[in-house]
Amino acid sequence: MSDNLQIGRDGRLRHLLTMEGLPRTLLLQILDQAERYAADRRAEGAHGDKKHPVLHGKTVVNLFFEASTRTRTTFELAAKRLAADVVNLQVSASSTSKGETLLDTLKTLEAMQVDMFVIRHEASGAAHFFAQHAAPGVAILNAGDGRHAHPTQALLDMFTIRRHKPDFSKLSVAIVGDALHSRVARSDIHALRTLGARDVRLVAPRPLVPTGIEHLGVKVFNELEAGLDGVDVVILLRLQTERMLGAFLPSTGEFHRDFGLTRERLAKLKPDVLVMHPGPINRGVEIEGDVAYGERSVILEQVAHGVAVRMAVMAMILGGEAA
Ligand code: NCD
Repeated sequence: MSDNLQIGRDGRLRHLLTMEGLPRTLLLQILDQAERYAADRRAEGAHGDKKHPVLHGKTVVNLFFEASTRTRTTFELAAKRLAADVVNLQVSASSTSKGETLLDTLKTLEAMQVDMFVIRHEASGAAHFFAQHAAPGVAILNAGDGRHAHPTQALLDMFTIRRHKPDFSKLSVAIVGDALHSRVARSDIHALRTLGARDVRLVAPRPLVPTGIEHLGVKVFNELEAGLDGVDVVILLRLQTERMLGAFLPSTGEFHRDFGLTRERLAKLKPDVLVMHPGPINRGVEIEGDVAYGERSVILEQVAHGVAVRMAVMAMILGGEAA
């Protein structure tokens, strides 16, 4: 699904659908713009209410067909900080539950003069479908489509890594866990490769390794200790039991025993290693609670950075913000 739908003929970002094929220059522009928004926020202090009204008069609809805490909330905050009007559509309560197709939902909402849709859907390709059918000038942001892509998560992950370790060419990064069902893993791999990370690894039990993932430029490890040896960043993935149709794993207990990040295992890693997780975490499965909120964890920083990064993407697409 790599195509140029998301880049206009003038080279500008029109939609954000995937990290695959997103040029390095655009990726860095988004991170730099997010850096400016984050710096402004810090300068104001915790109670600041400065708005960057680049989306004043624009309407953003958050269209979530799947559960979300962080992503939906931070998209909403981002749009509000850019002074957009924001509508959150409760999809379970909408007409899709009455059988309306995705296309009819899109066209109905477009008739209300919506400028941007933020869409999360369980079907891989849903955001591309929307982008293909959207009216000219209507932007689509992918907030997660099936197992395919979650580009703003990858952007906020890169933003978080860059804050601590700015030189990607020196980085060894391990993505650990359920990559088979993870749109985050795919988007992170593309982004890390685009930014030139030296060594990108996928560490998972064999049944959770997607076929052909090596072609994206990752080294696959089926054993945790070897996979984490010498890494600078560990990105843990949630064991996505809701997407497991068959019995991929013997049990979550066994997964924890073989792949869970515990205090003991963390103690053997580099002292300045970063521990990341897109959330929501399964405590005691892929990560121990102590480690999730321990001193090497940047999990809550990732959440916070979600706002600035999503502001940057929205401003670049709709506000014409020259980053
Ligand atoms: C992720 C998602 O929904 O893809 N979460 C998120 O957006 N922060 C990962 C997950 O659900 O495990």
